[in-house]
Amino acid sequence: MSATIATMEKATGAMSAAELASARHSRETVGDFTTANPRMTCRDVDVWYGSKQAIKGVSLDIGKNEVVSMIGPSGCGKSTFLRSLNRMNDTIVGCRVTGSIKLDGQEIYDKGLDPVPLRARVGMVFQKPNPFPKSIYENVAYGSRIHGLTNNKAELDGLVESSLQKAGLWNEVKDRLDQPGTGLSGGQQQRLCIARTIAVSPEVILMDEPCSALDPIATAIIEELIDELRQNYSIAIVTHSMQQAARVSQRTAYFHLGDLIEVGETNQIFTNPQHKLTEDYITGRFG
Ligand SMILES: Nc1ncnc2c1ncn2[C@@H]1O[C@H](COP(=O)(O)OP(=O)(O)OP(=O)(O)O)[C@@H](O)[C@H]1O
Ligand SMILES: [Mg+2]
Repeated sequence: MSATIATMEKATGAMSAAELASARHSRETVGDFTTANPRMTCRDVDVWYGSKQAIKGVSLDIGKNEVVSMIGPSGCGKSTFLRSLNRMNDTIVGCRVTGSIKLDGQEIYDKGLDPVPLRARVGMVFQKPNPFPKSIYENVAYGSRIHGLTNNKAELDGLVESSLQKAGLWNEVKDRLDQPGTGLSGGQQQRLCIARTIAVSPEVILMDEPCSALDPIATAIIEELIDELRQNYSIAIVTHSMQQAARVSQRTAYFHLGDLIEVGETNQIFTNPQHKLTEDYITGRFG
């Protein structure tokens, strides 16, 4: 436990409710939340749903060519934080994000910034595979059409093939590209969604429990894919599986009741956590 938190928690006995709330808000993260080569930098990020604060002063970098895992008990704010990274929270009525979130040095919440192209640069893969009710081909080509990248048939053919290749799905679907994406198995659908995300050349891919609806074989395929994707993208993944976090990520961030409690090298977090809350969670005493 850092000296700041220890001092703060010792002092809380004499605090009013308001002081306690603001002290909780300033809980200091244990470990280095920065990274040498950041793609995204988040500083003092608060997220509110109406009057309820779901994320409290979180600072965290997402590095280039790295996978960062976000772990923590249900309701601690993992999905909320992830959604703030590509302004998906904008679509939730009453949700408010403050603080600084930069992509390549540019504030993504700047008034002038259009969230639609931002969501191509910071793509998202959801818990439940959600292919569009369209053909496999169109699922992958769709983003390119709506973002106005290309509408040329030969270029689209090449883009569809290369994206499906990168998502490790090409060999399984190359002879049925005109069939519905919804007709694929769950694991194939998830890889189709990854291909759709990759097709618009993102810099960052956000994944919210991407394997929770998949069997162990499909999960292993996606985990291998995540490791390969790291060569070209930055990845932030929310997972309830500590084994998965250990297998796929270089850094791990532990969230608890809206606070980022601890962040560090994945190996260190799982073998030598510095904060008691992290230790309790990873040893199964809590959550
Ligand atoms: N749309 C919403 N409106 C109001 N409150 C919300 C909304 N979405 C989430 N919350 C609240 O914000 C807090 C964080 O929720 P969030 O979904 O980010 O947690 P999580 O860590 O992803 O949980 P889980 O592991 O169960 O997916 C919770 O208290 C939740 O009830
Ligand atoms: Mg969630």
